[in-house]
Order: sequence, then C-alpha cells, then structure tokens
Amino acid sequence: MASMAEVMQVINRYAPKGFVPKFGIILGSGLSELAEQITNPVSIPYQAIPGLHVGGVAGHASLLVMGHLNDVPIVCLRGRLHLYEGIPYDPIRTLIRIVKNLGASTFIVTCAAGSLRQDVGPGELMMLTDHINFHPGNPLVGPNDETIGPRFIGMEDAYDPGLQDLMRAAAKRTNINLAEGVYLSTLGPSFETPAEIRAFKTLGADAVGMSVVPEVILARHCGMRVAAVAAITNLAAGMSKEKITHEGTLHHGAIATRKLIKLIPEFIKETTSAMV
Ligand code: HPA
Repeated sequence: MASMAEVMQVINRYAPKGFVPKFGIILGSGLSELAEQITNPVSIPYQAIPGLHVGGVAGHASLLVMGHLNDVPIVCLRGRLHLYEGIPYDPIRTLIRIVKNLGASTFIVTCAAGSLRQDVGPGELMMLTDHINFHPGNPLVGPNDETIGPRFIGMEDAYDPGLQDLMRAAAKRTNINLAEGVYLSTLGPSFETPAEIRAFKTLGADAVGMSVVPEVILARHCGMRVAAVAAITNLAAGMSKEKITHEGTLHHGAIATRKLIKLIPEFIKETTSAMV
C-alpha cells in the first residue's frame, strides 16, 4: 500500500503552485454537474493516484479536481468509493486524508438519498444533522496513527453546528427549501425492503443511503469540520407507488443538483467570510 507521503507527492505534481484549498467537497451519484462550476480546474483521475481504486457506478466520473468556486480554493472529489463495490476502507481513508493533507479545514459531503419523510420528496434537499452507522464496520478499525488523529473520537458535533447555521443562512439567501434530518447508512447495493424502511423510521432515520458515514468519520478523525447535504432522489421503499431504480435516482438527482449548484457556492461564500 502506498504511504500518504507517496500519495501526496503525486498530487503535488499536479497541484497549482501554492494551492491550498479551504474546502473539500465530495459529490454523490448524479451530482457531478457541480464540478463544472469550478474555475481553472486541474483534474487528476483516481487511477493516477496511488492507492485509489476507481468506483464503477454509472454517473461517477472519479476525478480529483482542484480549482476555485466563487474565487475560493477548493478540492472536489468527483466520484466516491463505495463499500458495496467491494472496495476496502484503505482507499476511502486515502481519499479523505488527501483533502486534509492539501490543507482543507472544512469538508462538504453531498449524496443522493432516499427520504423516509413523506413531506420531503424527490428533488428536495435535506441537510444532514446526524447519522446512524448501519455499515458493517468503521473505517477507523485497525492500528491508529496518532499523527492523523486520536484513537477515540467524539461524534456529538460530527455535523458541525456552526456550519449548519451557515447552511441554513445560505439556503435562505438562495431561496431554497432545506429540510433537515438524520442519515442512516446501509451497505447496499440493493435498495431497502419496505420492512427495513419501517424499522429505520422507528430508529429515528429521515434519509437512507449507501455512503456518507465512513467519509464523515474519517473527516472528523483528522480534524476537519463537516457539513452534509443530501439530494433526495426518491421516497424510500414502500412509501410510494413508484419503484426505486438507479435511473430514477439519477433523474431526480439532476433536479436536486440544480439547487445544490446554487446552495453550495453560497454556503462557501458565507463560510469563508465567517472564517476571516
Ligand atoms: N436507498 C439507499 N440509497 C439510496 C436511495 C435509497 O432509497 N436513494 C438514493 N440512494
């Protein structure tokens, strides 16, 4: 396995001189249009980065893009690595730690998700305020590198309360309806059964998806602040007459992406001015 120093040597070969992103952002299924807003982009295919496997789901372009959004330097992970692809935690750890090692202090997570709330339908956005880890593991299992982060980390403010306020303000300013809720992660790749969704609802979940949680744990471990927004692509299994398909999620993801393209740059602007 490539060391982080070897990984960063490759990234730095591509990075513009003196480039230090303020934000990292990871784009979910069907949300990659946001990456097209980035000015002066420098893109590195994941294949060119030691230790990264390439995700294989349609709609995932798998590029690390360095550039600017609203004149703010950002690094964008266009395409994520999912456990359901049979990918181990190693490359997922590498991907998130690249963002930290480049210098980003804030990590924005976007994803597609099913809604467990009848009042939050396809095409809506939901800010994530907490999560329930239903993945069969945790990306921090194994020897801990104290130079990256502590052995045990608190998860009470995993979804940073200050950033939540800034996201609400950005939503208000862009006139976007922003629901809020708890995200529950499943391994996938099968969607849930109606019985599972009923069970998850009693556990307190508002949205369900196959990602987010490992990335948030890893980002918190290395000290980045996290904000997360889900693009709701469907009502969860058993909640609507419409059957859930990957194509359907991409279609509604595109509608929600148009909102994200307005919301995220505004959030970045708000947060950057709050930082200084
Ligand atoms: N379940 C799991 N993952 C998803 C869903 C869903 O209903 N929609 C989009 N991603």
